[in-house]
Amino acid sequence: MPNSGKKVCFMTGASGKLGAEIALAVAGQGYSIFFTWGHSEEKAKETLEKVRWVSPESQMVQCDVSKVDEIEQAFTAFSDHFDRLDLLITSASNFYRTNLLEVSEQDWDSLIDTNLKGTFFTMQAAARIMTKQPFVSRIITMTDISAGMVWRNYAPYTVSKSGIQHLTRIFARETAPNILVNSIAPGTISAYPIRADEPEANLLDKIPLQRFGDPMDIVGAIRFLMESEYITGQIINVDGGRLLY
Ligand SMILES: NC(=O)c1ccc[n+]([C@@H]2O[C@H](COP(=O)([O-])OP(=O)(O)OC[C@H]3O[C@@H](n4cnc5c(N)ncnc54)[C@H](OP(=O)(O)O)[C@@H]3O)[C@@H](O)[C@H]2O)c1
Repeated sequence: MPNSGKKVCFMTGASGKLGAEIALAVAGQGYSIFFTWGHSEEKAKETLEKVRWVSPESQMVQCDVSKVDEIEQAFTAFSDHFDRLDLLITSASNFYRTNLLEVSEQDWDSLIDTNLKGTFFTMQAAARIMTKQPFVSRIITMTDISAGMVWRNYAPYTVSKSGIQHLTRIFARETAPNILVNSIAPGTISAYPIRADEPEANLLDKIPLQRFGDPMDIVGAIRFLMESEYITGQIINVDGGRLLY
């Protein structure tokens, strides 16, 4: 085992726009990173290269999180490399617009299987390791403020994120006190395309802090949850106050 003593993070979706920033930040906190990618090998390689600048023993593996056998294989590969699991971050996510009356079975399965089913079985596999360890570990799920809103044209996506928020509370209760389980729900992050179907100008009018979020706002919330010892089962909305409207 190359990392004896060093804390280890298993992360899904580290090849994503925000996911890559999170992986880098966690590595910067002194963690080894083991992350999965689904379809974007080049982006995954870029993330791994950057993560290895600070955490050379970090590893990645391909894993379609909508398939339970691939999640199991990823955890087997993880165990070949690392002998402890301190932090799970579930960031893998599928996101696209779906008109309510035209949602197909394929759309439903794609969004729900990747986001909700994938998150559940990843949390389950991690919890099986974490609950046997003689120290407290953490799970952070990545959701979305839309989980608590009624967005037009995103029914399967918002239902999937809502389900993950409930899973967060369920795992927090059932795995306490071994595992602290919380969720980060980002609002609109400025570096990326606007996610709602609202015009950008109107959207800014509904953000009390009068700016879109920065990836570092999300990273700050992740770091906070990595340090905290008395918070579990919570959804932290990092949205500039958007949910106050
Ligand atoms: N960015 C935002 O503005 C924002 C706002 C609200 C919530 N969030 C949430 O924050 C998290 C990170 O966002 P992001 O910007 O990094 O998202 P993103 O750029 O869309 O990246 C999505 C990630 O999920 C992975 N993924 C998708 N389908 C997969 C599958 N079937 N199996 C395995 N991996 C799969 C992708 O990997 P591959 O490309 O390799 O398949 C990629 O790493 C997500 O959970 C997202 O819902 C983001």
